[in-house]
Amino acid sequence: MNEKPLRPDERLKEEFNRWAQAGEGEKMRQHHLNITEKTIRLMDLRPGERVLDLGCGSGWATRLLARLVGDGPEGFGQVVGVDVADEMIRQARAESKDFDNILYVWGSAQQIPWEENFFDKVLSVESFYYYADQDRALAELFRVMAPHARLFILINLYKDNEYSLQWVHKLKVPVHVRSKSEYVQLLKAHAFEDVQALRIPDETPTPDEYSGKWFKDAEELRDFKRIGALLLTARKPGVKSTSPTQVIY
Ligand SMILES: C[S@@+](CC[C@H](N)C(=O)[O-])C[C@H]1O[C@@H](n2cnc3c(N)ncnc32)[C@H](O)[C@@H]1O
Repeated sequence: MNEKPLRPDERLKEEFNRWAQAGEGEKMRQHHLNITEKTIRLMDLRPGERVLDLGCGSGWATRLLARLVGDGPEGFGQVVGVDVADEMIRQARAESKDFDNILYVWGSAQQIPWEENFFDKVLSVESFYYYADQDRALAELFRVMAPHARLFILINLYKDNEYSLQWVHKLKVPVHVRSKSEYVQLLKAHAFEDVQALRIPDETPTPDEYSGKWFKDAEELRDFKRIGALLLTARKPGVKSTSPTQVIY
Protein backbone atom coordinates (compact mmCIF):
# COMPACT_ATOMS: atom_id res chain seq x y z
CA MET A 1 0.00 0.00 0.00
CA ASN A 2 1.27 3.49 -0.85
CA GLU A 3 2.18 5.69 2.09
CA LYS A 4 0.10 8.88 2.39
CA PRO A 5 2.20 11.92 1.37
CA LEU A 6 3.11 14.18 4.27
CA ARG A 7 1.26 17.47 4.62
CA PRO A 8 3.57 20.52 4.13
CA ASP A 9 3.93 21.26 7.86
CA GLU A 10 4.64 17.59 8.65
CA ARG A 11 7.34 17.58 5.99
CA LEU A 12 8.89 20.75 7.44
CA LYS A 13 8.73 19.27 10.92
CA GLU A 14 10.54 16.09 9.83
CA GLU A 15 13.21 17.97 7.93
CA PHE A 16 13.93 20.52 10.68
CA ASN A 17 13.86 17.89 13.39
CA ARG A 18 16.67 16.26 11.41
CA TRP A 19 18.52 19.59 11.33
CA ALA A 20 18.06 19.95 15.08
CA GLN A 21 19.38 16.44 15.74
CA ALA A 22 22.40 17.15 13.53
CA GLY A 23 23.25 20.23 15.65
CA GLU A 24 22.29 22.71 12.91
CA GLY A 25 20.17 24.79 15.31
CA GLU A 26 23.18 26.30 17.08
CA LYS A 27 25.34 26.31 13.92
CA MET A 28 22.80 28.66 12.33
CA ARG A 29 23.68 31.16 15.02
CA GLN A 30 27.14 31.60 13.42
CA HIS A 31 25.63 32.09 9.96
CA HIS A 32 22.80 34.45 10.90
CA LEU A 33 24.18 36.40 13.87
CA ASN A 34 25.65 39.37 11.99
CA ILE A 35 22.53 40.11 9.92
CA THR A 36 20.22 39.35 12.87
CA GLU A 37 22.04 41.72 15.24
CA LYS A 38 21.66 44.51 12.68
CA THR A 39 17.97 43.71 12.34
CA ILE A 40 17.46 43.65 16.11
CA ARG A 41 19.02 47.11 16.34
CA LEU A 42 16.45 48.35 13.82
CA MET A 43 13.65 46.80 15.90
CA ASP A 44 14.30 49.43 18.59
CA LEU A 45 13.13 47.10 21.38
CA ARG A 46 12.02 48.52 24.73
CA PRO A 47 11.65 46.86 28.11
CA GLY A 48 8.06 45.72 28.48
CA GLU A 49 7.44 44.88 24.82
CA ARG A 50 5.87 41.61 23.70
CA VAL A 51 7.81 39.97 20.88
CA LEU A 52 7.22 36.96 18.64
CA ASP A 53 10.17 35.05 17.13
CA LEU A 54 8.54 33.06 14.32
CA GLY A 55 10.54 30.03 13.16
CA CYS A 56 12.77 30.45 16.21
CA GLY A 57 14.83 27.28 15.67
CA SER A 58 17.07 26.60 18.68
CA GLY A 59 16.18 29.97 20.20
CA TRP A 60 19.50 31.87 20.12
CA ALA A 61 17.83 34.98 18.64
CA THR A 62 14.87 34.60 21.01
CA ARG A 63 17.32 34.92 23.90
CA LEU A 64 18.86 38.07 22.40
CA LEU A 65 15.36 39.57 22.16
CA ALA A 66 14.44 38.51 25.70
CA ARG A 67 17.44 40.36 27.18
CA LEU A 68 16.29 43.58 25.51
CA VAL A 69 12.65 43.54 26.60
CA GLY A 70 13.07 42.09 30.11
CA ASP A 71 12.40 43.87 33.35
CA GLY A 72 12.55 47.65 33.21
CA PRO A 73 10.70 50.83 34.11
CA GLU A 74 8.21 50.13 31.33
CA GLY A 75 7.32 46.68 32.64
CA PHE A 76 8.23 43.10 32.10
CA GLY A 77 8.55 42.15 28.45
CA GLN A 78 7.97 38.70 27.09
CA VAL A 79 9.20 36.79 24.03
CA VAL A 80 7.38 33.88 22.45
CA GLY A 81 9.31 31.54 20.15
CA VAL A 82 7.26 29.44 17.74
CA ASP A 83 8.62 26.67 15.54
CA VAL A 84 7.10 23.85 13.51
CA ALA A 85 9.90 21.44 14.54
CA ASP A 86 9.32 20.06 18.04
CA GLU A 87 12.96 19.03 18.37
CA MET A 88 14.02 22.66 17.80
CA ILE A 89 11.55 23.68 20.52
CA ARG A 90 12.98 21.10 22.92
CA GLN A 91 16.53 22.37 22.32
CA ALA A 92 15.43 25.99 22.65
CA ARG A 93 13.77 25.27 26.00
CA ALA A 94 16.82 23.40 27.28
CA GLU A 95 19.09 26.33 26.37
CA SER A 96 16.80 28.99 27.88
CA LYS A 97 16.36 27.71 31.44
CA ASP A 98 17.85 30.92 32.86
CA PHE A 99 15.16 33.09 31.29
CA ASP A 100 11.83 33.76 32.92
CA ASN A 101 10.45 35.88 30.09
CA ILE A 102 10.61 33.36 27.22
CA LEU A 103 7.97 30.86 26.24
CA TYR A 104 8.55 28.39 23.38
CA VAL A 105 5.51 26.98 21.66
CA TRP A 106 5.43 24.23 19.07
CA GLY A 107 3.25 25.37 16.20
CA SER A 108 3.13 26.62 12.66
CA ALA A 109 3.12 29.98 10.95
CA GLN A 110 0.03 28.69 9.19
CA GLN A 111 -1.89 28.78 12.47
CA ILE A 112 0.05 30.77 15.03
CA PRO A 113 -0.90 29.39 18.45
CA TRP A 114 -1.53 32.76 20.07
CA GLU A 115 -4.28 35.30 20.66
CA GLU A 116 -5.21 38.33 18.57
CA ASN A 117 -3.62 41.80 18.85
CA PHE A 118 -0.87 40.68 21.25
CA PHE A 119 2.64 41.27 19.90
CA ASP A 120 4.32 44.70 19.63
CA LYS A 121 7.17 43.41 17.42
CA VAL A 122 7.73 40.29 15.34
CA LEU A 123 11.04 38.89 14.14
CA SER A 124 11.40 35.99 11.74
CA VAL A 125 14.92 34.93 10.71
CA GLU A 126 15.54 32.73 7.67
CA SER A 127 12.18 31.03 7.92
CA PHE A 128 9.54 32.85 5.87
CA TYR A 129 10.34 31.25 2.50
CA TYR A 130 9.60 27.79 3.88
CA TYR A 131 5.98 28.56 4.79
CA ALA A 132 3.78 26.53 2.47
CA ASP A 133 1.15 29.26 2.27
CA GLN A 134 2.80 32.64 2.72
CA ASP A 135 -0.53 34.48 2.34
CA ARG A 136 -1.99 32.56 5.22
CA ALA A 137 1.13 33.16 7.34
CA LEU A 138 0.82 36.91 6.74
CA ALA A 139 -2.87 36.84 7.67
CA GLU A 140 -1.91 35.02 10.86
CA LEU A 141 0.84 37.53 11.63
CA PHE A 142 -1.60 40.38 11.07
CA ARG A 143 -4.04 38.70 13.48
CA VAL A 144 -1.58 38.22 16.37
CA MET A 145 0.08 41.63 15.99
CA ALA A 146 -1.17 44.53 18.10
CA PRO A 147 -2.43 47.68 16.36
CA HIS A 148 0.67 49.65 15.13
CA ALA A 149 2.95 46.63 15.82
CA ARG A 150 6.00 46.19 13.62
CA LEU A 151 7.09 43.19 11.57
CA PHE A 152 10.69 42.26 10.66
CA ILE A 153 11.17 39.38 8.21
CA LEU A 154 14.79 38.58 7.40
CA ILE A 155 15.54 36.14 4.57
CA ASN A 156 18.66 35.04 2.76
CA LEU A 157 16.89 33.32 -0.13
CA TYR A 158 15.33 35.70 -2.62
CA LYS A 159 15.51 36.35 -6.37
CA ASP A 160 17.73 39.43 -6.21
CA ASN A 161 20.63 37.56 -4.62
CA GLU A 162 21.49 35.14 -7.43
CA TYR A 163 23.90 33.17 -5.23
CA SER A 164 21.05 32.20 -2.90
CA LEU A 165 19.12 30.45 -5.69
CA GLN A 166 21.34 27.35 -5.45
CA TRP A 167 19.37 26.38 -2.31
CA VAL A 168 16.11 26.04 -4.23
CA HIS A 169 17.38 22.72 -5.61
CA LYS A 170 19.64 21.69 -2.74
CA LEU A 171 17.13 21.98 0.11
CA LYS A 172 14.99 18.90 0.78
CA VAL A 173 11.78 20.89 1.24
CA PRO A 174 10.03 23.25 -1.19
CA VAL A 175 10.69 26.98 -0.84
CA HIS A 176 9.20 30.17 -2.25
CA VAL A 177 11.41 32.36 -4.41
CA ARG A 178 10.23 35.93 -4.75
CA SER A 179 11.96 39.19 -5.52
CA LYS A 180 12.24 42.17 -3.22
CA SER A 181 9.46 43.98 -5.12
CA GLU A 182 7.20 40.91 -5.13
CA TYR A 183 7.55 40.64 -1.36
CA VAL A 184 6.73 44.32 -0.94
CA GLN A 185 3.56 43.83 -3.02
CA LEU A 186 2.63 40.76 -0.98
CA LEU A 187 2.88 42.62 2.33
CA LYS A 188 0.90 45.56 0.98
CA ALA A 189 -1.79 43.18 -0.28
CA HIS A 190 -2.19 42.04 3.32
CA ALA A 191 -2.93 45.59 4.45
CA PHE A 192 0.43 46.15 6.11
CA GLU A 193 1.53 49.79 6.08
CA ASP A 194 4.89 51.46 5.81
CA VAL A 195 6.30 48.44 3.94
CA GLN A 196 10.03 48.66 3.30
CA ALA A 197 12.66 46.33 1.92
CA LEU A 198 16.33 46.75 2.85
CA ARG A 199 19.42 44.78 2.00
CA ILE A 200 21.43 43.69 5.04
CA PRO A 201 25.00 42.72 4.07
CA ASP A 202 26.81 40.16 6.18
CA GLU A 203 30.01 41.88 7.29
CA THR A 204 31.76 38.92 8.89
CA PRO A 205 35.24 38.35 7.43
CA THR A 206 35.50 35.68 4.72
CA PRO A 207 38.64 33.50 4.86
CA ASP A 208 40.67 33.40 1.62
CA GLU A 209 40.26 29.62 1.38
CA TYR A 210 36.64 28.42 1.20
CA SER A 211 36.14 24.86 2.44
CA GLY A 212 32.33 24.76 2.74
CA LYS A 213 29.91 22.95 0.45
CA TRP A 214 27.68 25.70 -0.92
CA PHE A 215 29.86 28.15 -2.84
CA LYS A 216 32.34 27.70 -5.68
CA ASP A 217 35.05 29.65 -3.87
CA ALA A 218 35.66 32.38 -1.32
CA GLU A 219 35.01 35.06 -3.93
CA GLU A 220 31.48 33.78 -4.52
CA LEU A 221 30.75 33.61 -0.77
CA ARG A 222 32.07 37.16 -0.36
CA ASP A 223 29.76 38.33 -3.13
CA PHE A 224 26.75 36.55 -1.60
CA LYS A 225 27.44 38.27 1.73
CA ARG A 226 28.03 41.65 0.09
CA ILE A 227 24.64 41.55 -1.68
CA GLY A 228 23.22 40.46 1.64
CA ALA A 229 19.94 39.30 3.07
CA LEU A 230 16.57 40.89 2.45
CA LEU A 231 14.90 42.56 5.41
CA LEU A 232 11.19 43.27 5.01
CA THR A 233 9.70 45.65 7.54
CA ALA A 234 6.06 46.68 7.90
CA ARG A 235 3.54 47.98 10.38
CA LYS A 236 0.05 46.77 11.20
CA PRO A 237 -2.42 49.64 10.87
CA GLY A 238 -4.13 50.94 14.01
CA VAL A 239 -6.94 48.41 13.87
CA LYS A 240 -7.84 45.49 16.10
CA SER A 241 -8.28 42.04 14.59
CA THR A 242 -11.31 40.08 15.69
CA SER A 243 -11.06 36.53 16.93
CA PRO A 244 -11.74 33.92 14.24
CA THR A 245 -14.53 32.50 16.40
CA GLN A 246 -16.19 35.87 16.74
CA VAL A 247 -18.97 36.29 14.17
CA ILE A 248 -19.82 39.85 13.24
CA TYR A 249 -23.32 40.46 11.87
C1 LIG B 1 16.77 27.95 8.57
S1 LIG B 1 15.97 27.67 10.11
C2 LIG B 1 16.21 29.22 10.98
C3 LIG B 1 16.02 29.07 12.47
C4 LIG B 1 16.32 30.32 13.30
N1 LIG B 1 15.43 31.41 13.01
C5 LIG B 1 17.77 30.71 13.09
O1 LIG B 1 18.04 31.73 12.41
O2 LIG B 1 18.64 30.00 13.58
C6 LIG B 1 14.25 27.73 9.67
C7 LIG B 1 13.34 27.49 10.86
O3 LIG B 1 11.99 27.76 10.46
C8 LIG B 1 11.17 26.76 10.99
N2 LIG B 1 9.94 26.66 10.17
C9 LIG B 1 9.83 26.26 8.89
N3 LIG B 1 8.56 26.30 8.51
C10 LIG B 1 7.83 26.74 9.56
C11 LIG B 1 6.45 26.99 9.78
N4 LIG B 1 5.54 26.75 8.83
N5 LIG B 1 6.06 27.46 10.98
C12 LIG B 1 6.98 27.68 11.97
N6 LIG B 1 8.29 27.45 11.83
C13 LIG B 1 8.72 26.99 10.63
C14 LIG B 1 12.02 25.50 10.93
O4 LIG B 1 11.56 24.47 11.74
C15 LIG B 1 13.37 26.03 11.32
O5 LIG B 1 13.61 25.96 12.70
